[in-house]
Amino acid sequence: MTTKKRNIALFTSGGDAPGMNACLRAVTRAGIYHKMNVYGVEDGFNGLIDDNFKPLQYTSVSNIISKGGTILGTERSPRFREKEYREIAYQNIKKRDIDTIVVIGGDGSYKGVKVFSEEYGINFIGIPGTIDNDIYGSNYAIGFDTALNNIIEAIDKIRDTASSHHRIFLVEVMGNRSGVLALNSAIATGAEDVFIPERDEDLNVFEEKIKKAYEFKKSSIIIVSEGDQIGGAKELYHYLAKKGMETKVRVAILGHIQRGGSPTYKDRMMATQFGAKAIDMILENDVNKLIGTKDGKIYSYEFTETVTKQLPSNYDALKLIKKLSRY
Ligand code: F6P
Repeated sequence: MTTKKRNIALFTSGGDAPGMNACLRAVTRAGIYHKMNVYGVEDGFNGLIDDNFKPLQYTSVSNIISKGGTILGTERSPRFREKEYREIAYQNIKKRDIDTIVVIGGDGSYKGVKVFSEEYGINFIGIPGTIDNDIYGSNYAIGFDTALNNIIEAIDKIRDTASSHHRIFLVEVMGNRSGVLALNSAIATGAEDVFIPERDEDLNVFEEKIKKAYEFKKSSIIIVSEGDQIGGAKELYHYLAKKGMETKVRVAILGHIQRGGSPTYKDRMMATQFGAKAIDMILENDVNKLIGTKDGKIYSYEFTETVTKQLPSNYDALKLIKKLSRY
């Protein structure tokens, strides 16, 4: 008796993250190993709508484990928020007899796939992939470690010029509404202070502190998360400039360099394990769940935990930064 082959769809969504390719490779090859047909969908939800599916073979994912970005492409899809486009996506899935969608992305991607699954009864599995590492329920998301290393490399260089010119550098990092990337990079680069969205700042106090710190040390690195309530590094610069500090202060916005490059060991490992886990979950019918990790364990969990809860801000990290910087 021959058993019918299962068909699954796989795509990346939201901002790209280094390690997504390693994950695509793992899902594809583990799926093929377990006799599944794996369809790669190009450009996230848009590919579902525009019928951009391609059958992935073992060799389709050769030589990509070391590459940043995502070979499938990724986009944010305003169209998928509309029912009429989700209906088109469903027809494209139905005609290929696909029963499960594996999406690598962040909260926004999870929301989209959940709505779709509830409407049309298509299973999904969510794999955390975002440099922001802001997914509730998982301590890690693919891309975070590589992004941190990119930030460290850039800031180490900035520190050379900051100390030579006796300047204060306001370095803006990504992270969307989460300060996790900023906090971790602040510790790892020895930054003097950090601005994160989760914390209110008293700018008068900051001004006093930075003046004292300047007297004492003559150069400083201040990390500003892009989602900070002050509005980012440029806004903080304008504030300090108004207080007469414009000659001493410079701004560096690291931008998309943070998301690029070959994934680190950690991102390749996590991505590969998450990818293999997704296929195990499909085999065990442990579907309509997300993959998470904590204390070295990889597990599945219910989606409801994610977007609805705010991440706690990491006050221990803040205390450590302050303790070591004499601020
Ligand atoms: O979600 C990842 C992320 O890099 C955020 O940190 C950032 O706010 C956003 O994507 C930038 O998106 P885009 O590439 O569309 O400018």
